Amino acid sequence: MKNTGAPDAVRLTDVRKVYGRRENQVVALDGVTTQFGRGTFTAIMGPSGSGKSTLLQCAAGLDQPTSGSVHLEDREISEMNETELTALRRDRIGFVFQAFNLLPVLTVRQNVTLPLRLAGLRPDRRKVATVLDRVGLGQRHHHRPAELSGGQQQRVAIARALISDPAVIFADEPTGALDTRTARDVLALLQDSVRSSGQTIVMVTHDPVAASYADRVLFLADGRLAGELHSPTAESVAERMTHLGAFVDGLSAPGKGRI
Ligand SMILES: Nc1ncnc2c1ncn2[C@@H]1O[C@H](COP(=O)(O)OP(=O)(O)O)[C@@H](O)[C@H]1O
Ligand SMILES: [Mg+2]
Repeated sequence: MKNTGAPDAVRLTDVRKVYGRRENQVVALDGVTTQFGRGTFTAIMGPSGSGKSTLLQCAAGLDQPTSGSVHLEDREISEMNETELTALRRDRIGFVFQAFNLLPVLTVRQNVTLPLRLAGLRPDRRKVATVLDRVGLGQRHHHRPAELSGGQQQRVAIARALISDPAVIFADEPTGALDTRTARDVLALLQDSVRSSGQTIVMVTHDPVAASYADRVLFLADGRLAGELHSPTAESVAERMTHLGAFVDGLSAPGKGRI
């Protein structure tokens, strides 16, 4: 979707994140500036330890950057208090994780409506049914997670993320625990929520095929942006990842300036 003058869904400006103190310091993010337009699907890729999860958590307001700023729909996250952050996470943001994070004793319907009920809201039955239909679980309202396949469980987690009509869905390796075919169903579902509902998706993945479902791929290396690809294909992503290895080697080689 082209920029129509509306603010980006998420904007990061010179975000740094340093873990630990003194000699134990780890610079997880080293000055990242980027934005995620409304109604776009972005994949974030990079070697293990390159800062992907940290980027996602800072962008989602789950963690605070050491410096720099994060704007969500033009509101600066670091200026919000805990109450405002809680409301933001509940109303504007959805999360999907690799380990589906469903509660085993709750049914599908109860898992999906849990965030609303925790917020003291009454789930709208029709809305719940619509969302469960959309993820292909219309017949499974009363099943428990253990009675579902991995792909179905992840679709419950996606339904739970969709129930509040969030502006942005953050997904960290959402297909990491799924087999190839099931992963494709889940990716198609995410892609559909961008196309049909204008949701913004930011997804961390290490799989070039998963990344090819996105409109754009951002590459991270050593906590820095190391390029991006538009309209990615699995092949172009895989090729870029191979070069990224060389890029990281270049950064750590003595005498080489950092790019
Ligand atoms: N809570 C933490 N405390 C200390 N170091 C951390 C913490 N979280 C991540 N790191 C470090 O920050 C770097 C980036 O981690 P992460 O964002 O998880 O990378 P990725 O998701 O790309 O594998 C790594 O070196 C990791 O060890
Ligand atoms: Mg990670």
